[in-house]
Amino acid sequence: MKPRILQLNPILIPAANTRLADLYDVCKWFEMPAPKHWLDQHGASVDAVITGGHTGISRAMLERLPALKVVAINGVGTDAVDLAYCRERGLPVTATLGALTEDVADLAIGLLIAACRNLCAGDRFVRDGHWEQNPQPGAIPLARRFSGMRVGIVGMGRVGRAVAARAAAFGCPIRYTDLRPMGDVGHAFVPDLLELASGADALVLCAAADKAEGIVNAAVLNALGPRGYLINVARGRLVQEADLAEALVAGRIAGAGLDVFVDEPRVPLALRESDRTTLQAHRASATWETREAMAQMVLDSVAQALAGQRPAQSLTT
Ligand code: 8YV
Repeated sequence: MKPRILQLNPILIPAANTRLADLYDVCKWFEMPAPKHWLDQHGASVDAVITGGHTGISRAMLERLPALKVVAINGVGTDAVDLAYCRERGLPVTATLGALTEDVADLAIGLLIAACRNLCAGDRFVRDGHWEQNPQPGAIPLARRFSGMRVGIVGMGRVGRAVAARAAAFGCPIRYTDLRPMGDVGHAFVPDLLELASGADALVLCAAADKAEGIVNAAVLNALGPRGYLINVARGRLVQEADLAEALVAGRIAGAGLDVFVDEPRVPLALRESDRTTLQAHRASATWETREAMAQMVLDSVAQALAGQRPAQSLTT
């Protein structure tokens, strides 16, 4: 009998799905007509779980899977998995560390340039035929320069460092905050987020959400100020979304580039309607190159765990 995998999130790489189906009995939670009923009947026979970073797995569900040998996260965020519980249980939780760093950093810079150069409004102006109707150069307001902007990075892990490398290439002075200074990072460490925000033209959120929920609030946005941009490629819950919406509506910050939201896929109307936002549907890692590398890591982690080895990417064992 093939080992049984409970897959909570789709994997978008056909070859990886074929390989999974060859090796395992793959049960797709997201396609089940009655998933809770399935769990009652088959929970005890699940050998491995595959999930997404944002989806994770609840502790209640983990408790229903007594034979589980691994939780393989197809992503780097571990905030939706109770790591302490898994550690206690000796259960490996793996992530795709390193696989998506470059893409997420690329999107952060893309969102920042799009926000400060008004790329989406410019696209609509041409696409909708408004340029022909309003050919005068002043029909579109002047934008803001990205090169040389003072960039404040929140969370100097892999993604934060990759954002810093890109911003440095644009001549941006960089400062950062984190739980502690990083000995191997040359940029200035600023322990206080308010201070970081008040000295930045753009604040880029790259932090894990588990220790930083709601850190970007009205005070931080006021400190960023009416010429400042907020970019979020990490987790929606780092930001108090209502405060952000109010700051954007009132023009207390200049704009925001957002790939992640508190309650995805629901995005507050105020953020969707604002001219100051550039929005993406949690797409930072969504390229063929990255998703192929991630899928391979997930396959490797599951194979290692089911062979009785400690998965190389385990964070808990
Ligand atoms: C993942 C994410 O790519 O890595 C994470 O934590 O949130 C994502 O961008 C997503 O979970 C894909 O499954």
